[in-house]
Amino acid sequence: MAIDDRTRLNNGVDIPSVGLGVFRSHEGKETEQAVAWALEAGYRHIDTAKVYKNEKSVGAGLRASGVPRKEVFLTTKIWNDDMRDNRQLKSFEESLEKMGVEYIDLYLIHWPVANFLATWQILEEIHASGRAKAIGVSNFQIHHLDKLLPLVKVKPAVDQVELHPYLTQLPLRQYLAEKNIAIESWSPLGGQGGAILRDTEVAAIAASHHKSPAQVIIRWNLQNGIIVIPKSVHKERIVENANVYDFELTAAELARLNALNRDRRFGPDPENFNF
Ligand SMILES: NC(=O)c1ccc[n+]([C@@H]2O[C@H](COP(=O)([O-])OP(=O)(O)OC[C@H]3O[C@@H](n4cnc5c(N)ncnc54)[C@H](OP(=O)(O)O)[C@@H]3O)[C@@H](O)[C@H]2O)c1
Repeated sequence: MAIDDRTRLNNGVDIPSVGLGVFRSHEGKETEQAVAWALEAGYRHIDTAKVYKNEKSVGAGLRASGVPRKEVFLTTKIWNDDMRDNRQLKSFEESLEKMGVEYIDLYLIHWPVANFLATWQILEEIHASGRAKAIGVSNFQIHHLDKLLPLVKVKPAVDQVELHPYLTQLPLRQYLAEKNIAIESWSPLGGQGGAILRDTEVAAIAASHHKSPAQVIIRWNLQNGIIVIPKSVHKERIVENANVYDFELTAAELARLNALNRDRRFGPDPENFNF
């Protein structure tokens, strides 16, 4: 197995299990290079969003890499204001145009704003048109999905949520597994602050495998069947984060990592966000 190892979604589409995240990666050279380095290192999955304001550079990085469009899995997300203002279709088309692509592999509702049901119907239409190969949600809790799922024609393929050893999200993971919806972890390394990367337990497990803390956390995701999208704009870290297929965590190590859970969020809480 290697970095283009894939997870099959509930609609039969395969998503590479590790992707490059580009949140807080600046529009322009920074994002273009990160995307091109990732593709050079073998990544085939890039995770962006309209609100990251770097979709244009993601497209430019893809073209600069020379890797054919059809080999790369692109995710982007509809932003909250575009949902509230009922400009979902327009916003989707703007994302296509900025990236310079004809279709998106996975289009997500970024946050569960009040009119997510109406938005989902528009995503279903986009999906039916073939311009989004899969559609899904992000930051949805069990109660949001309980509301959405009885009404859908197309089941969400994924739920992308904050998830790491300090926030293991077990109840949501069990719920999604029962519904056959894949889970993706955002801020898998704990985001910008790096607190998890400095955790002594993570460091001890990493040292015993001669790997880095980031590699251990990415591996913990993979061995738990979780799709993971670590972000970096540094070439050596992008390469490092992909180099996770030459070791295996033992059941005891997985248990030690699970035991770090403290339901600690580094990002906003989907129950209480004001943007
Ligand atoms: N759906 C949502 O609401 C949502 C929310 C947040 C994030 N996301 C997605 O999830 C992706 C990942 O989350 P994230 O960007 O918040 O955080 P993350 O991937 O957990 O952590 C990124 C941070 O870790 C550093 N880093 C990366 N690899 C490292 C390594 N090997 N060793 C040491 N430090 C390392 C990065 O620094 P450098 O870049 O300086 O290397 C950056 O500061 C985002 O980019 C985005 O695509 C989605």
